Amino acid sequence: MLTAIPQPAFYIFKCQQSAPPGMPKPSCVKADNPESQQLFQHLAQTLMQKGIIATVSPIQTGCLNRCQQGPVMLVEPGHIMYVGLTKDKIDRIIDEHIIGGEVVSEYVIDDEAWGEATPPASMAR
Ligand code: FES
Repeated sequence: MLTAIPQPAFYIFKCQQSAPPGMPKPSCVKADNPESQQLFQHLAQTLMQKGIIATVSPIQTGCLNRCQQGPVMLVEPGHIMYVGLTKDKIDRIIDEHIIGGEVVSEYVIDDEAWGEATPPASMAR
């Protein structure tokens, strides 16, 4: 018999892409920015410390195509893209959005850089 594992309320996709040394392309994890290398661990540890890791799943991803605004992470459900992340910003997002239910709008990507999602039905061949 299967034991039901509760489904998470949130998935947080944290971009862990790093550009190779010497590459001019911006990336979310940077060789010369130690904090950028620690953000995923900080996210996971904070979720653990707050006792909510079972219902909020942190996921490491590759590039989410918003490299100029990195470090970035996407919160689902809600399709909320947070940009320019630091440890302090992640703490606030966990407290106010994930636990409190209020999106931290000052850290959300600009509309011009994100906009509306394109429905697959409008593109499918
Ligand atoms: S490297 Fe993170 S969005 Fe592209």
